[in-house]
Amino acid sequence: MTLSEKLRAVKELTLALGEKKKRRHRNSPALWATEMGLLLDADGEPTKPDPWQVVMLDSPQSRICLNIHRQGGKSTMSSLICLHKALFKPGSLSLIVAPALRQSQENFRKIKDIIELLPGGYCPEFDESTKLSLRFANGSRILSLPGGNEGKTIRGFSRPDVIVEDEAAQCSDELHAAILPMMLTNPACKFILCSTPFGQRGHFYKIMTDGGHEWLKQTLKASDNPRISRAFLAEQRNSPLGPWYYQQEYECEFIAGETQLISHESILKAMDSGITTIEI
Ligand SMILES: Nc1ncnc2c1ncn2[C@@H]1O[C@H](COP(=O)(O)OP(=O)(O)OP(=O)(O)O)[C@@H](O)[C@H]1O
Ligand SMILES: [Mg+2]
Repeated sequence: MTLSEKLRAVKELTLALGEKKKRRHRNSPALWATEMGLLLDADGEPTKPDPWQVVMLDSPQSRICLNIHRQGGKSTMSSLICLHKALFKPGSLSLIVAPALRQSQENFRKIKDIIELLPGGYCPEFDESTKLSLRFANGSRILSLPGGNEGKTIRGFSRPDVIVEDEAAQCSDELHAAILPMMLTNPACKFILCSTPFGQRGHFYKIMTDGGHEWLKQTLKASDNPRISRAFLAEQRNSPLGPWYYQQEYECEFIAGETQLISHESILKAMDSGITTIEI
């Protein structure tokens, strides 16, 4: 029996077990994703979430900030959280915000790919499927929104249950600020920022380095991920783009930009809060 066949058998059993199993899946997105075979490895075989993925999937915390290396699984995990919410909380609203349309399309494709893996009868039929939005028969919605620079396109959604800010270091502070009021009437909304670093600036850097206990912060370097080829990393370390490229994209370091002659840290150290600002 291949692994896929075994998992298919588990899925069928899961459906047969009914309510008890569903309750366990409702309480643990990691268990749900594993037992339903929703995470595939590079060979297309069902696999288990990594330890950091189990932690974030099942975390009761409603603020999560992920500083994870390129291709570490950030978007896949966010997609699983949105889909889990849509299936287990009828009428829920999940928003996945990304800076550009191409990223939103990519995120949406991920959700649809995962839906394809669900056994018939388990996933409610979705009654509307456009390029960037899904409405399920149970009333839940998942929308993938390209936020642009100022976030004008994402205003007006109230009481979301999940908001994902994908590529958060690339999202402007204006876009981030446009997201925050949406949680006013539902502070328990799960808010997930995921990214690799992009300089010592902006809200993603601030939250990762200075965010309070309300944030579950996770960092995973590619060199600490056994799934990533050592040979590939060695090649990337010598990238013609410069050492900062490797450190940022694979080692998750917040590097002062090449054009930033004085680091953000030096600027903070030099700041004197006793000097008043003169408006001109
Ligand atoms: N636990 C896992 N085991 C095996 N493969 C995984 C696991 N988690 C994620 N993957 C795979 O890793 C690949 C990259 O995932 P994903 O696109 O979610 O990463 P990302 O961090 O969002 O990447 P990027 O930084 O490029 O946006 C996908 O093919 C995904 O299926
Ligand atoms: Mg991604």
